[in-house]
Amino acid sequence: MTGAAIAARPTTADDAPAALQALWQQTARPSAGARGDHMPPELEARYGGRMIVPLATDRPTVIANFVSTIDGVVALGPGEPTGGGPISGFYEPDRFVMGLLRSLADVVLIGAGTLRGSTAHRWTPAHVHPGSAGSFARWRAQMGLADQPTTIVVTARGDLPLDHPGLNDPDIPIVVATTPEGARRLGAARVSTNLRVETAGRGEELTGDEIVALTARLGARLVLCEGGPHLIGQLAAPDLIDELFLTVAPQVVGRAGDRLGLVEGVALPATSRWEELLSVHRSTDHLFLRYRRSRRPVQRRPQ
Ligand SMILES: NC(=O)c1ccc[n+]([C@@H]2O[C@H](COP(=O)([O-])OP(=O)(O)OC[C@H]3O[C@@H](n4cnc5c(N)ncnc54)[C@H](OP(=O)(O)O)[C@@H]3O)[C@@H](O)[C@H]2O)c1
Repeated sequence: MTGAAIAARPTTADDAPAALQALWQQTARPSAGARGDHMPPELEARYGGRMIVPLATDRPTVIANFVSTIDGVVALGPGEPTGGGPISGFYEPDRFVMGLLRSLADVVLIGAGTLRGSTAHRWTPAHVHPGSAGSFARWRAQMGLADQPTTIVVTARGDLPLDHPGLNDPDIPIVVATTPEGARRLGAARVSTNLRVETAGRGEELTGDEIVALTARLGARLVLCEGGPHLIGQLAAPDLIDELFLTVAPQVVGRAGDRLGLVEGVALPATSRWEELLSVHRSTDHLFLRYRRSRRPVQRRPQ
């Protein structure tokens, strides 16, 4: 398959920077602790509602944010453009929602494949949506959060592009979570002073539990995983993803070649695990879905 560049989604008169439209929202359940108080009114108006994430008490809460085509592709194949931009059509409201979620997080968690695929990115709220930078910063300050979420990069091999701008901004704390082998490799090569290498686990790769335990040791209460699909697989298999924010972009691209779906590298049992829909927002033809892992037994009988 040849890799044609995907153009930004055509803009119409209805497009950004209009507010997202809240189509449906589940009534919030009371929760012991939550993140999202003091949301600046301009952010609330733009999102079409408040963004409150309940926090677990026994471990950090893990939320994930992805953009997918209608037919479930989140990453194009080798030789094609990388990153979520070609999937969303570089859609500004999607970047706004990414910024909102980063604003809530103590940690933005990514796999090394995502780092390698986004050569100029920084995993901060302001970088993904500069127009809201002031509001994001004010919200974090009101919530008593650090100026920037810590970026955690997960790698088994430790073969990272250490000159990546996302690893070298003095304002962004960076942790590389890796294996003993990866730490050995990185030990000799480390350059950035704000980059810490943390060994988590003893195996050839980190389990989801080891990754979440590391975020707990770092003091995180809310972890935002931005993928990619292989890292998500390691978190989904042991059932560690509490909520999924999924943007559905209005394009169909097909799956021949090595294009990736939302979860790769694991096959989870079908029909036994379900998600509960929490809200649906819309911006033109894009849908913004929010799911929570359902804890209640779900009865689904074949018709
Ligand atoms: N549409 C979206 O919303 C979205 C979101 C994120 C990413 N993406 C796209 O997805 C593509 C990358 O996909 P991917 O699945 O390869 O990304 P990934 O999960 O970020 O990267 C895979 C790599 O991360 C490391 N890794 C992941 N889980 C690990 C674990 N449990 N223990 C140790 N290391 C682990 C390994 O790095 P080492 O090889 O260094 O050992 C592995 O090769 C890119 O094109 C990216 O732009 C799309």
